[in-house]
Amino acid sequence: MIILNNQDFKVRNDAKTDIEDRGYTFGDGVYEVIRVYNGKFFMLDEHLQRLQFSLNEIAISYDVESEKLQERLEQLLEQNNVVDGAIYLQITRGIAARNHPYPKKSTPELYAYPIPVSRPLEAQQNGIGMTLVQDMRWLRCDIKSLNLLWNVMAKQKAHEQGYKEALFYRDENHVTEGSSSNFFGVKDGKVITHPANNYILNGITRIAILRLCEQLQIPVEERELTLAELEELDEAFIASTTSEVTPVVNIDEHKFNDGTIGEVTKRLQDGFEKLIQ
Ligand code: PDD
Repeated sequence: MIILNNQDFKVRNDAKTDIEDRGYTFGDGVYEVIRVYNGKFFMLDEHLQRLQFSLNEIAISYDVESEKLQERLEQLLEQNNVVDGAIYLQITRGIAARNHPYPKKSTPELYAYPIPVSRPLEAQQNGIGMTLVQDMRWLRCDIKSLNLLWNVMAKQKAHEQGYKEALFYRDENHVTEGSSSNFFGVKDGKVITHPANNYILNGITRIAILRLCEQLQIPVEERELTLAELEELDEAFIASTTSEVTPVVNIDEHKFNDGTIGEVTKRLQDGFEKLIQ
């Protein structure tokens, strides 16, 4: 495997990371997972924009454009012959003696490399189950930070109970998002999803779906869903780079649509399919 380390391409085993990289000591960094279909990046511009946003919000000085990151990522794809897969990319604040405040000048450390991802066709056909987990994350979930501890704990909890994904709720009353996906409900033909604020990550797939809804004239409400409303939904689905549009057929014991895939979800799955051809 060829990896991109800052401006250089290396074979994987030649990549060395310092023990005092702040990514290790503090989780001080940000990341992206970018899907590749038919040898081409899907929504790369949007990913790079979100990456620049995350970097700016935690004051890591790295300029995506002047570093020619897009060009280098295209080269990385070619060098690894990625046809159907994804690139994982992370940028940490770099190396410094362990101390909470960061030095005025540090050199960010970038790694990018292919990860195996394939389409979750079985889940898309049959749907998945989710389990509610309290959202105990910090209040800047809009930053795609390397700190994923609560996401990891929640996903593990879901898996141990036989569910594919955890659904976060806050303040005992409203749902936010999945542990690694955005959540959408459908009620009376309307798609309802959490507004893109500090409580959720504004998913690139979420953006694609909102655009699709506009094209397909499916009405959208960007607002909080309460736990009580969850039970009354006609349909539900999650969206992310790896799950695309995946129907949710039950949340804990509660089944939607008799455990079958709803009509609006199906239309969005079909629409998404066309986008990635
Ligand atoms: N996760 N919300 C959270 C908390 C996420 O971790 C993700 C993505 C999303 C969906 O974002 P996008 O559509 O840009 O993939 C929403 C990635 C895939 C991951 O951590 O593996």
